Amino acid sequence: MTQFRKQKPSGTKRMVINIDQPQSFAAEQFRALRTNLSFSAIEGELSTIMITSAGPAEGKSTVASNLASIYAQEGKKVLLIDSDMRKPTMHYIFPVRNNLGLSTILSGHSALKNTIKGTAIPNLDLLPAGPIPPNPAELLTQPVMDRLIEELTVGYDLVIVDAPPILSFSDAQIIGNKCKNALLVVHSGRTVRDDAIKAKEMILLSGCSLLGVVMNKLMQQQNKSYFESYKKQMR
Ligand SMILES: Nc1ncnc2c1ncn2[C@@H]1O[C@H](COP(=O)(O)OP(=O)(O)OP(=O)(O)O)[C@@H](O)[C@H]1O
Ligand SMILES: [Mg+2]
Repeated sequence: MTQFRKQKPSGTKRMVINIDQPQSFAAEQFRALRTNLSFSAIEGELSTIMITSAGPAEGKSTVASNLASIYAQEGKKVLLIDSDMRKPTMHYIFPVRNNLGLSTILSGHSALKNTIKGTAIPNLDLLPAGPIPPNPAELLTQPVMDRLIEELTVGYDLVIVDAPPILSFSDAQIIGNKCKNALLVVHSGRTVRDDAIKAKEMILLSGCSLLGVVMNKLMQQQNKSYFESYKKQMR
């Protein structure tokens, strides 16, 4: 019997910029990201995208939730998976119950059908992370995880997977192995360059292709050379 751990409720309200402030500069940047992605992969190959970063709090869940909502708004049937079973957040961004989720499916406590939740955004469904299990990496290596992703790519045009930081835990590498593509989120001014390079290498080692790097929280006063030097290293 899996001993799930209770998560403390989050006090801060999270929003999807693309929905709550569609005219904002940030929302415009997310739409530009979507356009850039369509250039960096053949549309049909964009079936699964894992979002990860080197370390914690770099903006993975923000990027995952906004990207998922943009694709859903343009008519694609999208599923967002919160695969961060150590620190689940998607059920706060799209308020749904987290009593069932990825952790309960992988541990055999719930079925896919009654675990996926609809959201307020048409075409966008959410598979929350579920209650925190004692062994997330072990759960992710179960064959049921492979079958799950395969099954979901049949039912959805696009599956976006919000993953834990890749340098902190093995989870993201395990998930990367089951996804076709990955996006690496870098917190500008905070992510150490060597960590970003290591994260890129780990993504490639996991077997998925790196679609690109999202430079998050780039301050206007941060000079162009900072951005350019990252660009060179990530090629
Ligand atoms: N570009 C941004 N501008 C302002 N705030 C941001 C931006 N990106 C993310 N945030 C905020 O920073 C915090 C961390 O973001 P987020 O939860 O998306 O990161 P994460 O990488 O998923 O974190 P974790 O590793 O804990 O899962 C959140 O409060 C989020 O609202
Ligand atoms: Mg997160």
